[in-house]
Amino acid sequence: MDTYGIIGWPVAHSLSPAMHNAAFKSLGIRAVYGLLPLAPENLAEGIKGIRALNIKGVSVTVPHKETVMPLLDEIDPVASEIGAVNTIVNKDGRLLGFNTDWIGVKKALEEKIAISGQKAVVVGAGGAAKAVVYALIKEGASVAIYNRTFEKAKRLAQTLGGVALPWEELASASVDILIQTTSVGLKEDKSPVPKEVLSRFKLVMDIVYQPLKTRLLREAEEAGCETIDGLSMLVYQGIEQFYLWFGARPQASLMREAAEKELLGEKNDQARN
Ligand code: ATR
Repeated sequence: MDTYGIIGWPVAHSLSPAMHNAAFKSLGIRAVYGLLPLAPENLAEGIKGIRALNIKGVSVTVPHKETVMPLLDEIDPVASEIGAVNTIVNKDGRLLGFNTDWIGVKKALEEKIAISGQKAVVVGAGGAAKAVVYALIKEGASVAIYNRTFEKAKRLAQTLGGVALPWEELASASVDILIQTTSVGLKEDKSPVPKEVLSRFKLVMDIVYQPLKTRLLREAEEAGCETIDGLSMLVYQGIEQFYLWFGARPQASLMREAAEKELLGEKNDQARN
C-alpha cells in the first residue's frame, strides 16, 4: 500500500487526510494519507525521510511552502514563479514540486464568476496571497493589493504583478471582488475589512475556513455580496493535487463533504473538552 501525507507545523488540524482518504475510498485506490508533523528545524531531515520511506506524494502547508523548494529535485515553472510549493510528487525517487493553490483559487472563483476583466482587491501580502495574486493576474483580472505592512504589498506586486495601494484607500477603490488572505478571522470573530466598505463588492471570498462562515463572510452577505468560503479553495487545490498523483480528479462534493465532516467533528470535540 502506498503512503501519502501532509507536512506542516502545526498540522494536527489539517483537513487534507479526511479529503484524500475519502477520495481513495471512493475511487478504490489502495493507499493511505496521514499527518507528517515536521518542525521547521527538522524540514531537511523530514525530506530525507520521505525519500527513504518512498512516500509517493506529499502536501505541503505552512510554514514549509517556500523553504521546501531548495530541498527538492525539480520545481515546476509555475510553482517557481509563484515562489511556493504545496504539492510534492515522488517520481521514481525524484521529488518534484508543484503549486496547485492557484488552481484552487481559480476554480473556487469560477464557480461564481468569470475572472477575466474583474477588478480584484487582495487583502494581505503573505504566503497565501501569492497564489491568489498569481491566479487573478493569469486569468485576466486587475489586482490591487492592500496589506497592513505596505512594503510587503509592494514587494508582492513587484514579483507577481498588480499594484500595491495604501490600506486607507480601500474605502474609495473601484472594485468588483475581494479576496481575504490574512489569518484574521481564524478561530476568532474578527474581520480585517471594515463592514462599511463591503457593499462596494459583488463577491467576497475568504481563505480562512475555521469557522466556515467567518465574520467577513457574514458581513459580506449582510451587505448583499455573493460569498465564497475558504473550503472551496482548499477542496479544489486538493483535487488538483490528487490529479498530479493519480491522473484522476475526485468529485468536489466528495472532498468537500469529507472536509466539512472533519471540521464539524473538531468543533464537537472542542465543545466536549
Ligand atoms: P500566510 O503564509 O498564512 O499568508 P504570512 O506569510 O505570515 O502567513 O502572512 C500573513 C498575512 O496576514 C500578512 O499579510 C499579514 O500582514 P503583515 O504583512 O502586515 O504582517 C496579515 N496579518 C496578520 N495579522 C494581521 C492583522 N491583525 N491585521 C491585518 N493583517 C494581518
